[in-house]
Amino acid sequence: MRLVITDDYMEMSRKAAEWIAGEMKQKPGLVLGLATGSTPIGMYKELIEMYRKGQIDFSQVTTFNLDEYVGLHPEHPQSYHAYMWKHFFSHININKEHVNIPPGRFENEKDVCSRYDEKIKKSGGIDIQILGIGRNGHIGFNEPDSSLSIKTHIVNLALETIEANSRFFPQKDEVPKQAITMGLGSIMEAKTILLLANGRDKAAAIAKTLMGKVSTQIPASLLQLHPNVTMIMDKEAACFVTENKHVREWSFAYQSEGIG
Ligand code: PGA
Repeated sequence: MRLVITDDYMEMSRKAAEWIAGEMKQKPGLVLGLATGSTPIGMYKELIEMYRKGQIDFSQVTTFNLDEYVGLHPEHPQSYHAYMWKHFFSHININKEHVNIPPGRFENEKDVCSRYDEKIKKSGGIDIQILGIGRNGHIGFNEPDSSLSIKTHIVNLALETIEANSRFFPQKDEVPKQAITMGLGSIMEAKTILLLANGRDKAAAIAKTLMGKVSTQIPASLLQLHPNVTMIMDKEAACFVTENKHVREWSFAYQSEGIG
């Protein structure tokens, strides 16, 4: 795992965007796994800026989002469909046909999940999967549990996730109780993983992810088993990690190599 610790959210966002832009130049038909939430918004802004300056081209890029709330119509302002168009897709030259987001409304749960996995496979697999992290260590909406699903599936959201995400909804009881999410298998199959975290409220989850046991109770800890993970986080999210002398030396050694 590589660790990049930045001074603040802006620097985290810029470094993540620069890295993705570099990869896009190497492979114009990049398959990107995308995340929602407050964490990647700055990165999307940076990528939009680079696109506006003519530095990057999304016309051949394919995207797969991690998750969506069950029951929300794509036009619902809090749906992840709406989020993605508002914060990213409407501002770049992505081909609409190349955008994939799990649907929040569907007839057959099994069909919709297996179709999503099938599409990822057909695309050749995800080149770079962007991840945020929940305060409880979830990635995508894979919540802590005694076991975790490999494939795309429907999950019951943990109470703390509902609580954390209620800030985006007018009323807490409007937060959907279920989501459709890529499973740990799809995430682990991504060729490269880029996890972003900022703020003190992510520090405990980051410490457990990096320094704790691999456990389904901290889904992000499974990333310890992935061969190509980079975590870019601000110093607040990294505060428990940098207290650990061993990890601090290890992380700074990686930083001096640069990312990418
Ligand atoms: P956040 O969410 O970026 O809004 O903190 C991250 C997550 O829950 O995965």
